Amino acid sequence: MKHLIDKLEQTHSLTKEEWTALIEGRTPETAAYLFTRARAVRHKYYHHDVYIRGLIEFTNYCKNDCYYCGIRRSNQNARRYRLSKEQILQCCDIGYELGFRTFVLQGGEDGYYTDERMVDIISEIHGRFPDCAITLSIGERSYESYRRFYEAGADRYLLRHETYDPQHYKILHPEPLSAEHRRQCLWDLKEIGYQVGTGFMVGSPYQTAENLADDLLFLEELNPQMVGIGPFIPHHDTPFKEHPAGTMELTLFLLGLIRLLLPKVLLPSTTALGTIAPDGRQQGILAGANVVMPNLSPTDVRKDYLLYDNKICTGEEAAECKSSLEQQMNAIGYQVTVARGDSLNTNMEL
Ligand code: 5AD
Repeated sequence: MKHLIDKLEQTHSLTKEEWTALIEGRTPETAAYLFTRARAVRHKYYHHDVYIRGLIEFTNYCKNDCYYCGIRRSNQNARRYRLSKEQILQCCDIGYELGFRTFVLQGGEDGYYTDERMVDIISEIHGRFPDCAITLSIGERSYESYRRFYEAGADRYLLRHETYDPQHYKILHPEPLSAEHRRQCLWDLKEIGYQVGTGFMVGSPYQTAENLADDLLFLEELNPQMVGIGPFIPHHDTPFKEHPAGTMELTLFLLGLIRLLLPKVLLPSTTALGTIAPDGRQQGILAGANVVMPNLSPTDVRKDYLLYDNKICTGEEAAECKSSLEQQMNAIGYQVTVARGDSLNTNMEL
């Protein structure tokens, strides 16, 4: 296994068979070796800095019905909310004061936020905070919509591909959603000029090591600036409520692999990882991650943006979220930085 990790570090590429063998054959010893190499690479480019992104969950309405997600359309028990432009700007004001220089607008696929409304919100944030990056995470839209948001001032876009394999994708998402269309959106975003983030859940129902190998091959092909991965966690009001959660162990292993595959990538240690283990986000950083995304959403709606059960930080103020994270990072020898934190993974350099 060690020779595959060395090969990955040197060539930034493995075959599907090699990825599968590495994932299936992993041991605590190979994991320890992987994390040592992943940290060395991470320190070379990003030192001991941890970038923070202020996450604003501005709507939990969603027209999709993904079988794993707590805010799926069919979940009658979800208490739905939308934030107004003024409320969103207030979150940004609070975040800016706390030192955030990236705002992530995340929401379900909510028809209320037409292109016009989104452009209005984006341009307002861009005008008020010209030194901040604006990241969107609002799902699949047309090329033209993506282009308009970019012109309005959005710089980055997060859209997990969820799983590369079309059959597995169908098991996780009802029609008309498809793996092909999801990936087309990512290529569109890239062409328009966004810094693009993709990713997938670890341990999603029916996921195999081959599926993960395909996901890693796709990361190599897309060469995104950001990759978000976290364990699948069941939500009690979804069809997948009985499925086991993904493990911290496999999530950490994949974080390490992704750091070696895309050395300069921005790699968050996700809230889902922090949810399955109290020290999950610290372990994620020690496996090669370099970003955390504390919540800036107003506290009264926080507990309604539940994609999965037991989500952490649903009761804390933004300032509390940030300072507890800062403490956690300091405890393992890392420091939170307020820089915008653009990816070093520009296509020119690679
Ligand atoms: N467990 C873990 N992650 C989830 N997501 C959605 N539902 C769950 C869940 N039950 C992830 C998806 C989505 C991102 C915003 O959250 O990968 O892209």
